[in-house]
Amino acid sequence: MDQLDEVLTCRLDLGKRLVEPCSIVIFGASGDLTARKLIPALYHLFVEKRLPLPFRIIGFARREKTDAGWREELKAALQQFSRTKKVDEAAWTEFARNLSYCQGDLEDPKAYVHLKHLLESFGVPELRNNLLFYLSISPTQFGDVVGRLSEARLLLRQQQPGGWQRVVVEKPFGQDLASAQRLNSELTQFALEKQIYRIDHYLGKETVQNILMFRFSNSIFEQLWNRQSVDHVQITVGEKLGVGARGGYYEEAGAIRDMLQNHLLQVLALVAMEPPVSLEAESVRDEKVKLLNAVRRWQPEQVAKNVVRGQYVAGTIGGQPCPAYRREPKVNPESNTETFVAMRLLVDNWRWAGVPFFLRTGKYLPLSASEVRIQFRPPPNVLFAAQCGPKLDANAITLRLQPNEGITLRFNGKVPGNNIQIRPVRMHFGYDTEFGAYTPEAYERLLLEAIAGDATLFIRRDEVEAAWGIVDPIRAGWANTPLTEREFYPAGTWGPAAAAELLASSDRAWRDPQPAT
Ligand code: BG6
Repeated sequence: MDQLDEVLTCRLDLGKRLVEPCSIVIFGASGDLTARKLIPALYHLFVEKRLPLPFRIIGFARREKTDAGWREELKAALQQFSRTKKVDEAAWTEFARNLSYCQGDLEDPKAYVHLKHLLESFGVPELRNNLLFYLSISPTQFGDVVGRLSEARLLLRQQQPGGWQRVVVEKPFGQDLASAQRLNSELTQFALEKQIYRIDHYLGKETVQNILMFRFSNSIFEQLWNRQSVDHVQITVGEKLGVGARGGYYEEAGAIRDMLQNHLLQVLALVAMEPPVSLEAESVRDEKVKLLNAVRRWQPEQVAKNVVRGQYVAGTIGGQPCPAYRREPKVNPESNTETFVAMRLLVDNWRWAGVPFFLRTGKYLPLSASEVRIQFRPPPNVLFAAQCGPKLDANAITLRLQPNEGITLRFNGKVPGNNIQIRPVRMHFGYDTEFGAYTPEAYERLLLEAIAGDATLFIRRDEVEAAWGIVDPIRAGWANTPLTEREFYPAGTWGPAAAAELLASSDRAWRDPQPAT
């Protein structure tokens, strides 16, 4: 950053609440998420001096382990998953002093007494009273655990002076609207809505947060962000990996519940929502909910026309053979679970009426890349457009969410020379070039926000329910019908042919994300 950039930078977090000393209790501490994401994120926050001091992290899980044994495991995981290799020995040793393991069964009340004693052994009052409970466990256990925490008076359903308790819950938040509502009622029996932090890790990504800055701190783009200028919007979240070892979970979820209900609809909400009245969590979330509520619910009989599902069969990616989904471990060999979904959504509000939003996501696609493409209307059919016809590319803004994070504006220009030739050119902003290669993990930001008590980047009760309201009728439209031949796609392609037809029927086409050049 040069001096002028430094001067021009607005620092919005100066007035933010400081993080207070607290204890973080992770339920499901033996799980993958703890080792891969949570501990590396907390370690990096510690190294960057963003964690409050003092702090404690307690891992709660069933397996017998000593503090030292758990720390060793986590150190090995950190060496593998840390975004900054190699782990700083001295920093780790200092960080690891704050880690304790609490062995216990989630269903055993005695385990919570044990946890309470452990917390009481911490001298500093904030470490006993400011508690962040992170539930990285099966959603079927959320209600039970929160109930037991309340019973042990570790979680109080009120704001107490001199202490706070918050519950962070991982996705999937329910299987459908009814189960999400049940879960919400269970949780809110023991905690106030403002004590519940529902995670969608996409909201912790820099580029996803930047959608609001891009839209509402610039005046030039927002003027175009409506049905007068936009022809349609494409949101693609592609993944080059298959389901791998997660077959058991994925069989129940499928692409629509694993990715679309949460990550893609969150991105859609940020791209399409109205400007909030303030940057307060509730204002931002109010607008997201309004947007999700404006999305037209497809009736089951409209699903076939507007939604495409797919499942991968054997193929290759980068020359490597990939197995069919039905051959993956823990997957039913006759499974009808979708590993790909594409859909047309309509947003019935003043700004977007008539503008289709095309969303797609899938496993074993050619590329791991996520993008939002705002495709503008073509120029009027006179002058250059009259001569070039549909070949004249319409303008587009692409928000590249990951990897090669950046924003590209595509417009037409004259090819230099004595001929008259026009072709699209690109104006590109790349995060790396502009800001250096600093991409903190989403979990770092989210953990910090939960500790600070800022819920902006978390999903509110009505938001999660609105999202299920969009997904449920689609699943009802599929009604457990078996996949047909045309719904399979070879691994390494952009989904079944029907996904292309979804756009082709209105003379549009997917613009596939491109690899970095
Ligand atoms: C998770 C899904 O929520 O998001 C996974 O359960 C998916 O199936 C992952 O792979 C994608 O996250 P990211 O950050 O790699 O895009």
